[in-house]
Amino acid sequence: MSENLYIPEAATKAEKYESVIPQIEALISGEPDLYANLANISSALKEAFGFFWVGFYLVKENQLVLGPFQGPIACTRISLGKGVCGTAWQEAKTQLVPDVDAFPGHIACSSASKSEIVVPVFKEETVAMVLDVDSDKLDDFDSVDQEYLEKLMGILEKTL
Ligand code: SME
Repeated sequence: MSENLYIPEAATKAEKYESVIPQIEALISGEPDLYANLANISSALKEAFGFFWVGFYLVKENQLVLGPFQGPIACTRISLGKGVCGTAWQEAKTQLVPDVDAFPGHIACSSASKSEIVVPVFKEETVAMVLDVDSDKLDDFDSVDQEYLEKLMGILEKTL
C-alpha cells in the first residue's frame, strides 16, 4: 500500500472528496487497529482540505474522550449534550455549524475555530465516536462536506 496521498489540484471540493475517499478506504480497509485508522483519516482530511482541526472523540463510559487528531491541542473530555460534539452524540445526527459563536454551548477549544461539522460514527446502531472538523473560516462547510464525510464514516463503521 502506498503511503502517499494523491490530492488533485484545481479540483472542486466534491472532486477532491471523490479522489481522496477511495484512497482512505484503501488505507484503512486492511488495517485492524482502530487508532491507526483514526490517525490516518485525520491526517488525510487535514492534508487534502487544509482544515484547521480534524479529529475524533470516542465514547468512553459517560463522556466523549479525545482520540487521534491533527491540529492544535484540544479539550480532552466532553459530556453528553455539551457543545457541538456532545450534541451530535446525543442526537445521533450530524451537526453543521456555520458560525460556532451562534451555537448555544459551543465549546471553544481554540478561538481560531469559526465553523464546524461533527459527524457521528455508529457501532451496532449506537454512537461509538464522532468525527469533528473545525475551520478557521466562517461558513466553511456545506451539504457537500456532510454527504462525503458521512460516506467516509460509513466506510469506517465497516471496520468497527
Ligand atoms: N468545538 C467542539 C469541541 C471540540 S474542539 O472543536 C476540537 C464542541 O463544541 O463540541
